[in-house]
Amino acid sequence: MDKSLTLLVVGSGGREHALIKKLRSQGHTGVIYCLPGNGGMANDAVCFPVGATDIDGIVGFAAEKKVGFAIVTPDDPLALGAVDRLTAAGVPCFGPEKKAAEIESSKVFAKDLMKKYGIPTASYEVFDDAGEALAYLETAKIPTVVKADGLALGKGVTVAFTREEAQAAVRSVMEDRVFGESGSKIVIEEYLEGPEVSVLSFTDGKVIKPMVSSMDHKRAYDGNRGPNTGGMGTIAPNPHYTPEVAERCMREIFLPTVNAMNAEGRTFRGCLYFGLMITADGPKVIEYNCRFGDPETQVVLPLLESDLGDVLEACANGALADVPVRFSDGAACCVVKASDGYPLKYEKGFPIVTDGLPAGADVIYAGAKLKDGVLVTDGGRVLGVVATGGDVASAREKAYKACEGVHFDNEFYRKDIGLY
Ligand code: AMP
Ligand code: GLY
Repeated sequence: MDKSLTLLVVGSGGREHALIKKLRSQGHTGVIYCLPGNGGMANDAVCFPVGATDIDGIVGFAAEKKVGFAIVTPDDPLALGAVDRLTAAGVPCFGPEKKAAEIESSKVFAKDLMKKYGIPTASYEVFDDAGEALAYLETAKIPTVVKADGLALGKGVTVAFTREEAQAAVRSVMEDRVFGESGSKIVIEEYLEGPEVSVLSFTDGKVIKPMVSSMDHKRAYDGNRGPNTGGMGTIAPNPHYTPEVAERCMREIFLPTVNAMNAEGRTFRGCLYFGLMITADGPKVIEYNCRFGDPETQVVLPLLESDLGDVLEACANGALADVPVRFSDGAACCVVKASDGYPLKYEKGFPIVTDGLPAGADVIYAGAKLKDGVLVTDGGRVLGVVATGGDVASAREKAYKACEGVHFDNEFYRKDIGLY
């Protein structure tokens, strides 16, 4: 990629900040706009208050600023067709078109795709009627898993350990519509057990090149307790992702998924994220995301040795076969500092103070804004402290040391990222 190209990143979180930092650290000199971005990115990008789901606003902005390449990373604008619209307006883009993004935005679509093409996943039933779903649950094997079909801010999944819990999930999703139209259909699926692995991959629709594996920590509190969150920390690589598992995933899951999407006329170009469970029967897909994971991106990109801009461009152009995607043998750890009370109720507006980080550590901002020139907290997940090292243990130690160098009132963070 031409290092002087004007870029546009759509989104506002840590994932977007990590992408922008990587582009800058690899020498990108052109303007990088971020819509809407956040106050913690001010040194790395130019942020404008255009919402990530304001597709008309984004397309108009790209034309006005003569953007040379756009990177769309959040699920909502992808599901709304931001890439289709930008492409039609003549702006080259990294990210899947709307019909390919459905691999994340409809769980029913994703499950039916896997069934049709023999891609290993939990067995399942689909319901569009609450009565039928409740009748099915009378005799279903427990534990079981209830999933709203559509996007639900990562909260549409209930792992139910009792029949009553499963029934309550069906009622709140289908009858009370807590996730709106996302709950017009549900998937009820087999409960699987085993370690979870996230694998992000680059694909241009022809070849697929996996990134280094990672592990998310979704629960709010130490010991994997408490409510599910967007992710409280990550490590890369994931110790459960052995070379044998990787080889099997490529053969049984990654290539078949790219081929299946092509066969369906929904060629996927962009970052395809595989949420995997390594079961006693082998790796199975828990979920697909049509985008970089957050906070997985914060640990994966620091280990990328190849030029990110070249890779993004190659995914868009169908030229990924010719571009190397190489990662270092090292490791990375990201510890998320959140506002006390997250993911439920929390206060915002506390100043964020940084007083020195060890070498090899960095702060990635997510929920932060500038108020009268002072950076203050502005969300549940406020920032990620990221460090790299020779192995996970040393990256982890460095990340926790660096946590002492950045503070805000009312903060909390897990002390056990990377211990599993
Ligand atoms: P998702 O939002 O699809 O990532 O699901 C959230 C979490 O629910 C996953 O990270 C898993 O821990 C859990 N989960 C989802 N599906 C299953 C399943 N079939 N069996 C067991 N756990 C699951
Ligand atoms: N960290 C999980 C996700 O991005 O969906």
